[in-house]
Amino acid sequence: MIVVIGSSNTDMVIRVKHLPAPGETIIGHDFMTNQGGKGANQAVAVSRLGGRVAFVARVGDDGFGRQAIELLRQEGIDTTYVRTTEGVATGVALIPVDDKGENSIIVASGANALLSEDDIEAARPLIAQASTVLMQLETPIATLLAAARIAREAGARVVLNPAPFPPEPLPAELLQCLDLITPNETEASMMSGIQVTDEASALRAIQAIQAQGVRQVVVTAGSKGAYIEEGGQLRCIPSRKVQAVDTTAAGDTFNGALCVALSEGLAFPEAIRFANCAASISVTRLGAWRSIPRRDEIDS
Ligand code: RIB
Repeated sequence: MIVVIGSSNTDMVIRVKHLPAPGETIIGHDFMTNQGGKGANQAVAVSRLGGRVAFVARVGDDGFGRQAIELLRQEGIDTTYVRTTEGVATGVALIPVDDKGENSIIVASGANALLSEDDIEAARPLIAQASTVLMQLETPIATLLAAARIAREAGARVVLNPAPFPPEPLPAELLQCLDLITPNETEASMMSGIQVTDEASALRAIQAIQAQGVRQVVVTAGSKGAYIEEGGQLRCIPSRKVQAVDTTAAGDTFNGALCVALSEGLAFPEAIRFANCAASISVTRLGAWRSIPRRDEIDS
């Protein structure tokens, strides 16, 4: 069982010609609401790609929250530990997407910010029997640390997708609990203090992050693929070239897929190839959940 701990949002997406500059008002076209949130996206990716998955999260006591729980269940996700929080709104994300498929995202965390150490304690029986625990950074870090401690003690694989990266460094104890971390180039630069601009700097950043106590690092690099360190050398696992429509949830798809592939026993480079393939399909479609592929679409 893969346990995903994290956020659930309702995404409000507007297509635009270009992302607005500060102070600029632009007229967009096509509006849609869509299920999202990095945690929920990753749980959906695990389920659609063939993993057994439970989700630990909070939603608000509103229509968005009720809809999220219903749709998570329809995706085959165990929602026993998705709590509804009275008097609080479900998380919301405002996402303009431009003609090149690039986006910017503003999140109002709502109930996500209230996912607590008590919630993790309540979910201890689930977390303690997980094979993999996958987390991101849209919920409080103290909560994630509590989960990482339980998972580590129980011998689960502990994976962190460090997005969105916070202004302050991550706690050393959290890093030391991790088997795997999956920053993108920007997050790897922030974590390591080394600006990732090319393969040489990517290698130095990976080594600097490993020196902080994380066992394995994958740096995702968008259309270039993903970087890992092997025997002191950088290895790039390339991604297939696709026409990007919307990159929203590509990272989430990558993370969910990677955990599924590792749980099935694939070697690290093959698991990354599988995850690259899933992520590259997701960028050809608009939206978060609606862009995440199913297992029979993956041909890597
Ligand atoms: O990673 C994409 C996600 O980030 C969106 O679905 C949005 O909800 C934000 O959490």
